[in-house]
Amino acid sequence: MFRMVELIAKKRDGHPHTEAEIKFIIEGLTHQAIPDYQISAWLMAVYFQSMNEEEAFYLTKAMLESGEQIDLSSIDGIKVDKHSTGGVGDKTTIALAPLVASMGGKMAKLSGRGLGHTGGTIDKLESIPGFNTGLSSGAFISQVNTIGCAVAGQTADVAPADKILYALRDVTGTVPSIPLIASSIMAKKLAAGADVIVLDVKVGDGAFMKDASEAEALARVMVKIGEQYGKKVTAFLTNMNEPLGEAIGNRLEVLEAIDALNGQGPADFRHLIIDLAAAITYQAALYPTYEVAQNAAQTALDNGQAYARFEAFIKAQGGDLEAFLHTDSLAPVRVKAPHSGTVQSMAALDLGLAAMHLGAGRAKKDDVIDPMVGLKIFKKIGDSVQKGEVMAEIYSRTVADDSAVLKAITLGEKAVENPPLIVKKIGL
Ligand code: URA
Repeated sequence: MFRMVELIAKKRDGHPHTEAEIKFIIEGLTHQAIPDYQISAWLMAVYFQSMNEEEAFYLTKAMLESGEQIDLSSIDGIKVDKHSTGGVGDKTTIALAPLVASMGGKMAKLSGRGLGHTGGTIDKLESIPGFNTGLSSGAFISQVNTIGCAVAGQTADVAPADKILYALRDVTGTVPSIPLIASSIMAKKLAAGADVIVLDVKVGDGAFMKDASEAEALARVMVKIGEQYGKKVTAFLTNMNEPLGEAIGNRLEVLEAIDALNGQGPADFRHLIIDLAAAITYQAALYPTYEVAQNAAQTALDNGQAYARFEAFIKAQGGDLEAFLHTDSLAPVRVKAPHSGTVQSMAALDLGLAAMHLGAGRAKKDDVIDPMVGLKIFKKIGDSVQKGEVMAEIYSRTVADDSAVLKAITLGEKAVENPPLIVKKIGL
């Protein structure tokens, strides 16, 4: 019906596609009827010419319809979901899912594995011995009904077109495109079937989106697409110019999530999960105002309710929490400040890469992860540091070289304000 070469030329020359054209491209690539070289050329044309909101919606729709759409209708109540665009030290889902469940929410969450400098929730949870991320759809739904949350790995049947497109984008320099990212994320979120979706769009050095206005544009496109599907969508823009919390690395991040669920842990991480849980449960009409929901989230963290739900969630998915908690951590190498000063900036991406090189992440898809290794970064931008003070720890199985961590933390004389963690909330 269409000729792919003409569609490539149309986009190359800056013209918008029709719904039928986008459907033709997505169906063609899903059924391998269009060769990779033409899809790659089209992706580059989209990268340079972008897409209008209508095209981004049609692209999302075509990708969503390329695969299975999960039916959550047998879960009672309003189903909620959350998605992060990926950052360094982002262990949010591990604490947020049981927190929201303890507040009355129903979170049915499909998560991914880590690639590159960003970690993945599934890898993190698998640092708990026995934890099963391959739930059948029946077990997944029944667990959400009884416990209020379940976290499973994304199946190959959800948005298969996205898998093909993402693999090509990854090797053709076309990942950072607003319509391509928005449709990739929203196709998967819409396929997962929730009524309320909260998006955590990371912005800064350790994120895909380095620039706040670009990140905001991405967030607004995603909110609009979700609303066109009748979903309640909120987007937070959050700072990724420094790692979230202190821990980077799979087991270390689960331990930090446990601290937060016990009312402790780093202040920035606690702040984020309280506000995300409040947005989700308020949008799900479980609380009359956002502020009441914030208070409820704080209470649930401080009175043991959220941690009790975490224990039930881990047990339901076969995890042996006792064994996890009784495993000794590796002996850390302490990274000390070479001189006194104030933290001026942090290279969050380099810290993510340093953790990946220790074995906490994958440079290639089939690399094997070591759950024990990672980093802890105790300082935030704007903190003052005394010469010799411990700024970070390296958990490694080999002789640890602290140069990458030292290089990533810039100390100087100037007083610097710590940037706000939550830059903006859209759709709340
Ligand atoms: N995460 C996704 O799922 N897709 C993108 O394109 C970027 C981040």
